[in-house]
Amino acid sequence: MALKKRELLVKISLFFFLGVLRSTQGRECSKEVKKQPPYLKEASSFSSMAGEEYDYIIVGGGTAGCPLAATLSQNHSVLLLERGGSPYGNLNISYMQNFHICLTDTSPNSPSQPFISSDGVINTRARVLGGGTCINAGFYTRASSSFVEAVGWDSELVNESYPWVERRIVNWPDVAPWQAALRDGLLEAGVAPFNGYTYDHLYGTKIGGIIFAKDGFRRTAADLLAAGNPGNLRVLLHATVQRILFRKLAGGRPKAVGVQFKDENGRQHRALLKNARHREVILSSGAIGSPQLLLLSGIGPKKDLEKMRIPLVLHNQHVGKGMADNPLNSIFMPTKKPVRQSLIQTVGITKPGVFIEASSGFGQSSDSIRCHHGIMSAEIGQLSTIPPKQRSLEAARKYAREKKNLPKEAFRGGFVLAKIDGPLSTGHLSLLDTDVDSNPSVTFNYFSHPRDLRRCVYGIKSIAQVVRTKRFAELTVDDAYTMEMLLNMSVQANVNMIPKHTNDTASIEQFCRDTVTTIWHYHGGCHVGKVVDDQYRVLGVSGLRVIDGSTFDRSPGTNPQATVMMMGRYMGVKILRKRLGREAGQM
Ligand SMILES: Cc1cc2nc3c(=O)[nH]c(=O)nc-3n(C[C@H](O)[C@H](O)[C@H](O)COP(=O)(O)OP(=O)(O)OC[C@H]3O[C@@H](n4cnc5c(N)ncnc54)[C@H](O)[C@@H]3O)c2cc1C
Ligand SMILES: *[C@@H]1O[C@H](CO)[C@@H](O)[C@H](O)[C@H]1NC(C)=O
Ligand SMILES: *[C@@H]1O[C@H](CO)[C@@H](O)[C@H](O)[C@H]1NC(C)=O
Ligand SMILES: *[C@@H]1O[C@H](CO)[C@@H](O)[C@H](O)[C@H]1NC(C)=O
Ligand SMILES: *[C@@H]1O[C@H](CO)[C@@H](O)[C@H](O)[C@H]1NC(C)=O
Ligand SMILES: *[C@@H]1O[C@H](CO)[C@@H](O)[C@H](O)[C@H]1NC(C)=O
Repeated sequence: MALKKRELLVKISLFFFLGVLRSTQGRECSKEVKKQPPYLKEASSFSSMAGEEYDYIIVGGGTAGCPLAATLSQNHSVLLLERGGSPYGNLNISYMQNFHICLTDTSPNSPSQPFISSDGVINTRARVLGGGTCINAGFYTRASSSFVEAVGWDSELVNESYPWVERRIVNWPDVAPWQAALRDGLLEAGVAPFNGYTYDHLYGTKIGGIIFAKDGFRRTAADLLAAGNPGNLRVLLHATVQRILFRKLAGGRPKAVGVQFKDENGRQHRALLKNARHREVILSSGAIGSPQLLLLSGIGPKKDLEKMRIPLVLHNQHVGKGMADNPLNSIFMPTKKPVRQSLIQTVGITKPGVFIEASSGFGQSSDSIRCHHGIMSAEIGQLSTIPPKQRSLEAARKYAREKKNLPKEAFRGGFVLAKIDGPLSTGHLSLLDTDVDSNPSVTFNYFSHPRDLRRCVYGIKSIAQVVRTKRFAELTVDDAYTMEMLLNMSVQANVNMIPKHTNDTASIEQFCRDTVTTIWHYHGGCHVGKVVDDQYRVLGVSGLRVIDGSTFDRSPGTNPQATVMMMGRYMGVKILRKRLGREAGQM
């Protein structure tokens, strides 16, 4: 026993040692992004810019906000306000191995702010410059042409805007063993053809891009700010916007004139737009942050605002409506040998609109946080075996403490995941209080639409086919898994709490409901045609847009970050061109 413990310690310290070694190497390889760029300042420095006014004030330095700010700054003065800190020099963000460690950090300064939807699914919001790209699994893949068409974007500009992002921060992965197994298993199970390495959204199986560089270090949307004009760009960190400021135009229409924000010391500031036409406040605060900020600023359902004693600027019943999150369900496959950590590199795109991906963990012992299941790690809330209503951050922590009691086989293997496109089930967001730092109440109503449930069943059956292929049989412990055994195994891998199931559709439906988690692709709340127009201008007011994932009524591609970044660049160019046209027209 004692000997075993010592062996374990040696292994763990060796792992840490290797980790440090690798991270030092990485740091040298990527000096240019490790050093904090000079245009980043703390919010408290704002007072020293007294009297400055801007062409554009962007709220949220996230996945859309950074490329948008960089683009607009080419020709106009831009103030970018981000409530979180800098990603530079933070190994929880930069080091792929730390994916789950970053999400475990629930302190007020953490780049990830946890929230639990009223459905009981543990989820997270980014709170850092770079937004979701700093804490996500890094998989990069474009939206389908039909998505681009449905949204009404100019396909030519879309085709220029994706590469603008890709040239700067996207790479091809070295395909990890678990991802190679998924690729081969998908093909053997008939999810064909193989489309090779591609960013495009094509039926069949493919390897997508990743935002991790060859040195293992993460690139983020914050790196896109380097493409801006530093003379025109101010970026403030720990600048939390509390509300948008309006004045009434002649005729009574509200016009956004600036924002009120607090700095890292809690001091209040006002940032103002230049007093001229076509100056704008743009919300890029994410699918939770943007509707929340509209509500806090007096734009939303009148009754709800009255309840919160928020002065009404404009009644719009659609703000915060149509929130959706793609349900994620997964099956754990124990393997003969441990598999190396991998997040997402391979995807199977099926015609019925189910995407099959995979993630694998690391660890030969179960008593360290270094022992995990990749994106399915239970300590980050992917406790897929506690029914949603029983989940809590405490349950996740309890699991982390008790993980050492699990058999080590539970950490030897990987997950195969199914994500549903769409989804058709939607919910809503509403304020619980008027503090911008707290999470609003969010409901996604997973599987309330029967089609989502049918697709989940299809997804689980597809996974079962994949993991019963010859390719997987070489890796896994038992090559003749029945559906019942597979479902059972998913249970044992984490905490054995859900009831036993048989292999009929009704019980797979139950499995779907009981084990639903998130892949963090939530969207909606500021839909086009309801809250914003087709140019993302907020309906009924002037000088205000929303540009981010809150405007989508379905999540783009198999994973959204490519399209959210592309949208920031795309809308930046659109706005520049429109203004150029207008100003030329005026002359
Ligand atoms: C754990 C995780 C894994 C994921 N994995 C992948 C993946 O592998 N591939 C993929 O394509 N997608 C992935 N995603 C999804 C993707 O990262 C998000 O959909 C995307 O980043 C959302 O972009 P956004 O611009 O809408 O919001 P964000 O990037 O979250 O940007 C919003 C920004 O606004 C700031 N903000 C909010 N409110 C305020 C305020 N009041 N004042 C000032 N600033 C404010 C926030 O701090 C944040 O930085 C993942 C997401 C998560 C969380
Ligand atoms: C990284 O996350 C861990 C917890 O998950 C936390 O204790 C640590 O302070 C974080 N490090 C940084 C640099 O934020
Ligand atoms: C943009 O690219 C897509 C796929 O890469 C292609 O189908 C489409 O025709 C292109 N659009 C234009 C206008 O070139
Ligand atoms: C399911 O798991 C339990 C242990 O948690 C085991 O006793 C049972 O035999 C398993 N059933 C199947 C079908 O594998
Ligand atoms: C599950 O399905 C298999 C065939 O795939 C069948 O042989 C088995 O009897 C079924 N088990 C139950 C409990 O229905
Ligand atoms: C940006 O400004 C330059 C001059 O500084 C001008 O030549 C160019 O046309 C402008 N571009 C846009 C898109 O506004």
